[in-house]
Amino acid sequence: MKWIIKFCILFVFLFILIAVETPVFGAEKYSGEVLYKKKCGSCHELYKPESFTAGEWTKHIQHMNSISGLNKKQTLLILEYLKENSKDRISNKKEK
Ligand code: HEC
Repeated sequence: MKWIIKFCILFVFLFILIAVETPVFGAEKYSGEVLYKKKCGSCHELYKPESFTAGEWTKHIQHMNSISGLNKKQTLLILEYLKENSKDRISNKKEK
C-alpha cells in the first residue's frame, strides 16, 4: 500500500514541475521588454520606447502585429512595456 502513496507524491511533484515549465500553465516566460528586444528588432532597428506616445504605440503595435505574427499575450506584454516607457509617461515622471 505504501508504494502507492509514494507513487502519487512523485506523480504530483512531476506534474507541478511540468506545469510550471509549460507556458500554458505558468506565467509567460519572457517579460515585455525581453520580448520586444527579441521580436521587434529583426526587421528594423529597435525604436526607443520614449520615441512614441502610448497612443502611437497602440497603433504601431497593431500594424506590426499583423506582419510579425505575435500571439495576443506577447502583444499585450510588449505593449505594456512600451506604454510604461513611452514619451508621455516619461515626461510625466520628469514633471513630478
Ligand atoms: C516582419 C518584419 C517586422 C517585424 C517583426 C516588426 N516590424 Fe516594425 N516595421 C517593419 C516595416 C517593414 C516597417 C516600415 C514600413 C511599414 O510601416 O510597414 C516598420 C515600421 C515600424 C515602426 C515605425 C512606424 C512609423 O510610422 O514610423 C514602428 C514604431 C515599428 N515598426 C514597431 C515595431 C514593433 C513594436 C515590433 C514588434 C511587435 C515590430 N515593429 C516588428 C517591419 C517589421
